[in-house]
Amino acid sequence: MRSHEPRATVFETAAQAADSLKQFKDIKHALRNTASNTGKAPTLQTNEAKEELAQVLDTAAFFLNGGRDAGYLVECLVLQLHDLRSECSPETWKELVPLAQAHPIRDKLMADPFTRRSYEKPRGYSGDGVLLDLLYRHPAAQEEVESSSQFGQDIYAYTSISSSALAVQERREILAQFVDETAARRGGAEILTVACGHLREAEFSSALAGKSLSRWVALDQDEANLTVVGKDFAETVVEPMAGSIKGLMAQQYDLGLFDLVYSAGVYDYLPFEIAVALTRRLLDLVNPGGTLLVGNFSTEVVPAGYMETFMNWSLLLRDESQMREIVVAACAGQDVETELFFGENRHIVYARMSKPA
Ligand SMILES: C[S@@+](CC[C@H](N)C(=O)[O-])C[C@H]1O[C@@H](n2cnc3c(N)ncnc32)[C@H](O)[C@@H]1O
Repeated sequence: MRSHEPRATVFETAAQAADSLKQFKDIKHALRNTASNTGKAPTLQTNEAKEELAQVLDTAAFFLNGGRDAGYLVECLVLQLHDLRSECSPETWKELVPLAQAHPIRDKLMADPFTRRSYEKPRGYSGDGVLLDLLYRHPAAQEEVESSSQFGQDIYAYTSISSSALAVQERREILAQFVDETAARRGGAEILTVACGHLREAEFSSALAGKSLSRWVALDQDEANLTVVGKDFAETVVEPMAGSIKGLMAQQYDLGLFDLVYSAGVYDYLPFEIAVALTRRLLDLVNPGGTLLVGNFSTEVVPAGYMETFMNWSLLLRDESQMREIVVAACAGQDVETELFFGENRHIVYARMSKPA
């Protein structure tokens, strides 16, 4: 990768800079016109890819230094990284990640509270409840956002509505819908959420508000998340529970059975065998007539390149057939009706598994 000269030397003339900005922004329009870059055969050799990365980052840094249109420029950067990632083999991309992280543009991007929290991982992992609140644009995150610089807030104005953020915001509504449908089917329904974070979907559940659930166990490994859940849902049937996926699989908890068990935001970390074993275990916790729902980020996530570099957040992205393999292996020998579906922008793939009554 090139050494980083002072920004003033990147473009020799204003016309050159203007032309480069036009090209930098054009990528957005080009990408809008193609359904998705996933599945394209990698075409770039490692050296070419390093050159291209340097060019993308130098250009983005140059314009970000102008201090204007930060959100829009970061959106262009996200799309450029998506394009570049899709042109690299996984091995080449792996070499590019630390180079991107060492580029001076990283300091600029850290002004965004969402990017910064993910990168710095104050609790040792990216997707903690506070980060999810930033992603949801939840009122609990307001103070953190308002204490950021205007430049940081401008970037956040885009990152918090990026296509992956929108997919997670929609996921919250889908989960609440499943809870409400379960309650409509069965009075006094019991719900289990695995890896609940701050359980923000519960704020969307009319069944919870209408007191038509009898139990909602919210399990997570992170006590700090559970403290928020306990406080925010104090007068409800929600029961925060400290527990882990390992503990669930080892049958360490006496939980009883549930009409709906779901997990979102954690399968993206689980290798195939663990995902199958967990799914099988969760199915054991489902009542006859009940449902298990799990979600996983799909291979169609556009901001994956930005997440893996500047958010230091790598997920196991799965396509429909990889998701189906998990479901088929987990449901083998059981009478379970299964369905796979995507969220609206296809960034999250869901698997629903329902038992006969
Ligand atoms: C990306 S967040 C998703 C939170 C929430 N489900 C949502 O959609 O907003 C992932 C959550 O998984 C939890 N988690 C990660 N690994 C876990 C494990 N092994 N056992 C239990 N919880 C886990 C984290 O503590 C975190 O709250």
